[in-house]
Amino acid sequence: MKIKVDLSHSAKDASYDILINSNISIGTILESIGIKKRACIVTCKTVNNLYGFLISNLLNSAGIEPIFIVLPDGEIAKSIKYLSYIYDELIKSRFERSDYIIAFGGGVIGDLAGYAAASYLRGVNFVQIPTTLLSDVDSSVGGKTGIDHPSGKNLIGAFYQPKIVIIDVDFLNSLDKIELINGFAEVIKYGAVLDKDLFLYIEKNLDKIMLKDKQSLMHIIERSCSIKADVVNKDEKENGFRSVLNFGHSLGHAIETLYNYGNIKHGEAISIGMVFASKLSKELNLCGNETVNMLETLIKNSGLPTEIPKFTPEEYINAMKLDKKVEDKSIKFVLISSIGSFKFEKLDFAFIYKFLENLL
Ligand SMILES: NC(=O)c1ccc[n+]([C@@H]2O[C@H](COP(=O)([O-])OP(=O)(O)OC[C@H]3O[C@@H](n4cnc5c(N)ncnc54)[C@H](O)[C@@H]3O)[C@@H](O)[C@H]2O)c1
Ligand SMILES: [Zn+2]
Repeated sequence: MKIKVDLSHSAKDASYDILINSNISIGTILESIGIKKRACIVTCKTVNNLYGFLISNLLNSAGIEPIFIVLPDGEIAKSIKYLSYIYDELIKSRFERSDYIIAFGGGVIGDLAGYAAASYLRGVNFVQIPTTLLSDVDSSVGGKTGIDHPSGKNLIGAFYQPKIVIIDVDFLNSLDKIELINGFAEVIKYGAVLDKDLFLYIEKNLDKIMLKDKQSLMHIIERSCSIKADVVNKDEKENGFRSVLNFGHSLGHAIETLYNYGNIKHGEAISIGMVFASKLSKELNLCGNETVNMLETLIKNSGLPTEIPKFTPEEYINAMKLDKKVEDKSIKFVLISSIGSFKFEKLDFAFIYKFLENLL
């Protein structure tokens, strides 16, 4: 299946396709978008060990010579050090504007390779081949690229769209459960605030999804990418509507900050954040108990946490104040009005403090 990210209205038409399937002839597709001689594959150690040989063969069979840049696993790679290493390798190989950088890995590799592509020679062609559920449904779509700075995540970056996103669900076969549910939390998010049918589908097919049934995985990836593509079409640079994707993220980011990004996965933190946002919504009479229960039950049944970790309300408020959506005394919150619909609301920190005090 194919989804179009339609950016034809932007100054420079940066529209592209997202292909979703299994056993994709990646070489042929890359050849068809214009890769002729060679391409630089940026990947991480684990993905290289698992699929380096396969991807190399797929490219070779299409007459493309792959040049591999293999980085360590995990967030550590999203740094100036490894960005600089990529530049060094590109310069060594005399990479030119018309050449292609291919991100082959999870969100870390996608963000880092995307930023290298955005900045090297003021922009070279870029392709995303995501290999985690999180990167399939979230980070590979939408054009946000970047690296971390010692003082914070994603502080350096650019909006830079890929030429194509190729999602082959077969890569998920080797993904462990923790990483699967980490990405799955974002799928629940799309369903919760933007697509009731997706939410109901997940409820019904949860066991199959957890067993990595191909058709179910393809369905949730296709729905998630369509939703994200639609949101990005409407608001590429996050001037307003795109922040609906932050449902569960205000408290989620605060939890990640308080844990110093150790000991908790992003998907776990936003799961707690989504349940919190639904309870806040109920407190404000935007939704009923049933909505809170449906969301909380699905999150629990997926093996994701719902309980707020025991930090103090002060700690939570201070961490939330680091959020980009913050004004002096209030924060723009994404709330839920029923499964599949949302509402933006500016909430005073004093109100959130009180609410947290009662919950903790
Ligand atoms: N650009 C965006 O819009 C956006 C959106 C959400 C998240 N992100 C970023 O994405 C990053 C997180 O991405 P992630 O969750 O994919 O983490 P990740 O890239 O670190 O991958 C998680 C782990 O899975 C391993 N792995 C990858 N593919 C595998 C496979 N097929 N089989 C087995 N193991 C595999 C990796 O080696 C790594 O250890 C964060 O840096 C976050 O900031 C970006
Ligand atoms: Zn997220």
